[in-house]
Amino acid sequence: MRISVFRRAHFNAAHRIYNPKWSDEENRRVFGPCAHTNFHGHNYELVVKITGEVNPDTGYVMDINKLKQIIKTEIEDRFDHKNLNLDVPEMQGLIPTAEHICFTIWKILRAHIDEKLDLSVRLYETPRNFVEYPA
Ligand code: NI
Repeated sequence: MRISVFRRAHFNAAHRIYNPKWSDEENRRVFGPCAHTNFHGHNYELVVKITGEVNPDTGYVMDINKLKQIIKTEIEDRFDHKNLNLDVPEMQGLIPTAEHICFTIWKILRAHIDEKLDLSVRLYETPRNFVEYPA
């Protein structure tokens, strides 16, 4: 039987949505207040979804405590109370949109989750605005 398990997590982070190839005026035109020079913060909510066969020996797809620990060490410790433009090496060279943050989180987690399991990441930037990878 294939089934999905989910774990929610949370982090606060600052960013500035800004394309360095464009003028300040062009950035303001495209990104509005998100281009504000001195950064602003979001309360990001993360939903990590793991899908796979139930292991007959444990009854688990994956030990959720192990998943909780991976998310804590690899994501919360890396992103929480950080400036996504400056502090997170994995985000270097990426405009820190929800799309890029979500994909970066997926890539980091993918390396720590059994390859037999499917991984999907949903990231809420606000309660109403969220993205999901894979699409
Ligand atoms: Ni923003």
